[in-house]
Amino acid sequence: MNISSFKNKKVLITGHTGFKGLWLTITLLNYGAKIIGVSLKPNGFQKKVLKKLKNKNIKNYFFDIKDLSEIKKIIIRNQPDYIFHLAAQPIVSVSVKKPLETWKTNLIGTGNLLESLRFLKKKCFILIITSDKCYEIKNKSRITYFKETDSLGGKDPYSASKASTEIIYKSYFETYLKFKKNLSICSVRAGNIIGGGDWSKDRIIPDCVRSWIIKKNIYIRNPNFVRPWQHILDAINGYLMLANTMSKTNKFNGHSFNFGPEKHSIKTVNQLSKKFQYYWSGVSKIKIKKNKQFSETKTLALSIMKAKQNLNWKPLLNFDESVSLTADWYRKYYKNLNVTDIYLEQINHFKKLCRLKK
Ligand SMILES: NC(=O)c1ccc[n+]([C@@H]2O[C@H](COP(=O)([O-])OP(=O)(O)OC[C@H]3O[C@@H](n4cnc5c(N)ncnc54)[C@H](O)[C@@H]3O)[C@@H](O)[C@H]2O)c1
Repeated sequence: MNISSFKNKKVLITGHTGFKGLWLTITLLNYGAKIIGVSLKPNGFQKKVLKKLKNKNIKNYFFDIKDLSEIKKIIIRNQPDYIFHLAAQPIVSVSVKKPLETWKTNLIGTGNLLESLRFLKKKCFILIITSDKCYEIKNKSRITYFKETDSLGGKDPYSASKASTEIIYKSYFETYLKFKKNLSICSVRAGNIIGGGDWSKDRIIPDCVRSWIIKKNIYIRNPNFVRPWQHILDAINGYLMLANTMSKTNKFNGHSFNFGPEKHSIKTVNQLSKKFQYYWSGVSKIKIKKNKQFSETKTLALSIMKAKQNLNWKPLLNFDESVSLTADWYRKYYKNLNVTDIYLEQINHFKKLCRLKK
């Protein structure tokens, strides 16, 4: 990818303090972009990273995207060249406890962003980040590699809200945005992302880290469930390659793209936790605990043909490399190394891979 595409560009990222948002923010700052970040008030870890980024090209706005007037004001005032919309309530278990809050943030929050775009006059390329969980699961017993044209669905509130995010995006596109010559918009559906800096509850890697750092056993639910695990840097590379392509051709305006791992990296929860344990080199054990609280989809996998054929994108990190980089990030973090240096070391390693595996 030509990284100079983002140099001096104004990039608005919603959810810039989240797990994925911080990786995207730091990568884009490293590429010379100017970041306009929109998130909720930061927690301790997020504050620590933002403090290290203080003298960089970043403006932080902390408010709720459910507030239409606020998001509209920020978009119009800043006139971004690119928008990456990541802000969401992204956890299935939280969505089961707080369905309406999840619906409001994920659906109305996205609606507010789309509504604001109607008033933007400047050229802008927009990516709406949804999820692999937006697809309708028809056959539970065998792995389906979902294509972008497959039907949308989702039973739990999170998955359903992400399918609905796809629908509201398409509705705004067909009714308003496709008539605006200055805009180009796509939605992206990535797999289950792993990488350092994820502290979410009920996600396998952060759950392992939190337990193992205090030498406790980890209890995993659904060990045989299959997920398209993918390293965050591969997903971000996909988002950036798509944004870059959108800035060169209007061909994909209104499209959706999957980003996931190669088929051989689609593994079970058990395989992921065992591999992570190997790279973590801790002594704590992995134990199985039945999940009685909420039901989750047994198998999820994505077809990545469209991105490969049209964007020249492919995953560069295999399963082992992805897990090893993830363990390395947390190990360094607990050794109290400078947190932005840990991100940058891995970003630079990935940039080298991009050049080598071209
Ligand atoms: N992490 C994954 O494995 C994964 C997989 C597929 C899709 N996604 C999607 O990627 C996006 C980012 O996920 P993540 O894992 O980084 O999540 P995260 O929970 O780490 O971060 C969420 C971000 O959104 C912001 N946010 C949440 N509610 C908000 C609101 N009401 N107003 C303003 N900001 C708000 C938070 O402040 C934070 O910056 C989400 O849309 C998620 O659904 C994540």
